[in-house]
This record gives sequence, structure tokens and C-alpha cells, in this order.
Amino acid sequence: MALSRRAFFGGLGASAVASPVLSALVAARGFEEATAAWETGAYPTLSPPGADEVRIGGNENPLGPGKRALDALVSELDQSKRYPFNSRVGNRELMDTLAERFDAKPEHFVVGAGSSEILRNGVRIFCSPERHLVTGLLSYGSPVTESKKLGNEYRPIPLDDELRLDLSGMAEAARGAGMVYVCNPNNPTATIHPASTIESFIVEVQKTAPEALILVDEAYHDYVTDPAHKTMIPLATTRKNVAVARTFSKAYGMAGLRLGFGCGHPETIEQLRRYSLSANANVLAIAAGVASLRDRKHIERERERNEKVRRFTLDFFEGAGYQSTDTQTNFLFVNLGEPAKQFREACAKDKVFVARDFPPMEKTHCRVSIGTMDEMQRATAVFAKVLGVQSSDAGAGGAQ
Ligand SMILES: Cc1ncc(COP(=O)(O)O)c(C=O)c1O
Repeated sequence: MALSRRAFFGGLGASAVASPVLSALVAARGFEEATAAWETGAYPTLSPPGADEVRIGGNENPLGPGKRALDALVSELDQSKRYPFNSRVGNRELMDTLAERFDAKPEHFVVGAGSSEILRNGVRIFCSPERHLVTGLLSYGSPVTESKKLGNEYRPIPLDDELRLDLSGMAEAARGAGMVYVCNPNNPTATIHPASTIESFIVEVQKTAPEALILVDEAYHDYVTDPAHKTMIPLATTRKNVAVARTFSKAYGMAGLRLGFGCGHPETIEQLRRYSLSANANVLAIAAGVASLRDRKHIERERERNEKVRRFTLDFFEGAGYQSTDTQTNFLFVNLGEPAKQFREACAKDKVFVARDFPPMEKTHCRVSIGTMDEMQRATAVFAKVLGVQSSDAGAGGAQ
């Protein structure tokens, strides 16, 4: 039986709520709330998280989970003793909530410890020494990493001139493939293809490679602002061998909790479940995930917040004469015209941490994640210094 938050807190009593664990958890509400709590003296012994560092290398949501998700985490903390099939908010509830949220059925979903697990299992199940992986060069690297581990072949298809996936090249390479990995929006280039193009691609590939899994990775879906983009979830639920991977690590702010899911036709999902660890999602991640899925307004607000800060950061680079790709995510892929390593190491001296190298573009391009407005104001001031641009040459960011 579900226990309300009030009943739970009532049952625990004030001393339990004030315990270090709960305080730390509440204090970890994310940058803004934690900082506000710190400023009002609610948590005098805690410094604001990351106060002297700007960590913009991992495409995380700097604010963390939304309030409803955090409330769920706190109220389900006592369920840590339970297995997820035996907890107050468990697997069943997550599957039902996913089904409700995406207008599908529980059998259309498989859950993972992050979407990494879905990507890994896609490669493990659908690829083999005889059936290669098709991916973009550059694209998110984990399917290639998995293929290498297994000793399987992979075919990385170079991007087009706008640093988007070359879908016609990928379709050509799909003949005889085990899995075709379509990261849309693409990481690290931040670019998208519109829904109509992805749909035609799927139809085309299924003519020549009907046995291949087409895995559309929509990790950054919730950050897209281009109306031409749409999720492939409705298509995946009706067509075999198409799956969509989603994560709670990005807009949902739950990277540390490790929760993701795959969505597709029940037969495809059944295959993807073959290598899933049972009880792979922990009860706290499940509770926060369920609460997040029910809080659609929060994700809309997060998209708007990200867009504003993204615009600010883009303006800085454009004003300073540096080009970025058309970003539809919570990160930029910027052409610095110099090695990313040089830029990264110089920024790190001022405690601004941008992303690692992305070969083969590491000699010119750097990936910069979008933090809070405050973080990006501090970051762009450091960027201006490192790049040697006058504040007046750059956009608003340079003047901070
Ligand atoms: C495109 C893409 N897919 C999948 C993942 C894996 O995310 P997680 O395992 O945290 O859900 C990431 C992480 O950065 C990503 O960028």
C-alpha cells in the first residue's frame, strides 16, 4: 500500500528528518535550491555544492532532479531495504507509469541502469562477428566500445558538412548489420535530423536490413526546441526491430541514480531483456523516475531554462567569432580552431572543466555542457580570458 509523504514523515518524527542522511539528501536538491538553503542558513555546515568549480563536461543537468522527484526520494528512503519487486514504489509502478506517460503498454518497455545498459544489450544481442554495428563518426561512443570488447566489426560513417549523422551513408552500410545506432540528437555534435527524415531512414533500412535493430538514442530529446523533431517511440512500439533508448540522466537530472529505458515492439523488448540484470534499477531511482514522469511541467521548465542559458553561451562564442553546430541539446560543440586539450587545460586552471577530447575532431572542436546561468557567466569569463578575446568582441557572456 502506498504511504503518503506526510504519513511517512509523521511516522519518522522530526529527529529522523533532521538526520545527517536526510539533511544531506535534501541539501543535494541541486545547485539553486541547495545554494538558497545555504544562504538562508538552513544548512550552516554545508558549503554550496561545487561553489568553486564549474563542471561542464558531462552533459548533466546542473540543477539535479526536480522537487517532486526529490520528495519521492526522501519519502522512499526507508524502502532501501526492499528489493524493487517488493518495495512500496517498485518495478511494476515504473512500467505502468512509463506506459501511461508514453501512451503504450508495460510490455513495450525495458528498464536499465541508465540507458547505457540498453545500448550495451542492443549490441550484445543483435551484433555478432558476422553482424556489424553501424554508427556515426562522431557519435556517442558506447556501442562502439561494446563492439570492440566483443571483437565485433563496426562501421563508423563520417558526418555530413553540418556535423549531422550521414543517414544515407548509414543506410548503405546497414546491409548485413546487426544494429544501426542513430543518436538523435547526436552526441557530441548536438545536431538533429527531423522526425520525417528519421522515419524515412527507418523504412529504408528495414527494406535492406530487416533483421538489424535500429536503435534510436533519444538521450537529449527533452532539450530539443526545434519543432521538426519528434520522438520515435510511437513508431518503435509498432514496428519490430526498432527501439528507442531514453535516459533519466539528462533533463531529469538523475545521472547519479542510474535509470534509463528502452521502448519498442514487445518482441523486440523481449530480446533486449535477455541480458538485463534482474532488479537492475534501484528503489530510489524508481521512485524518483516515477515522480519525474508524472511532472511534465518540470521538464518543460528545464527545457526553457536550458534554452536561455544555451542562447547566452552561444552568443558568447558567436560574438567572439567561434562557430558552434546548431545545438538542440544541453551542450555545444564549438569550433575553436585549436586543440581542445589546450583550451581544456587552460580553463581547468580557473576551475572550469569542459569535456574530454572527441577524436577525430579533437584538434579543432570542444564540447561544452550547459550549466546554470551563473556557472556559464563564470565559464564564459574564463573562456574569454583563455581565448584572448576582448569582452566587447564577445556576446553578453564575455562581458561578465
Ligand atoms: C547519447 C547518449 N546516450 C546514452 C548515454 C548514457 O546515459 P546513461 O547511461 O547515464 O543513461 C549518454 C550519456 O552521456 C549519451 O550522451
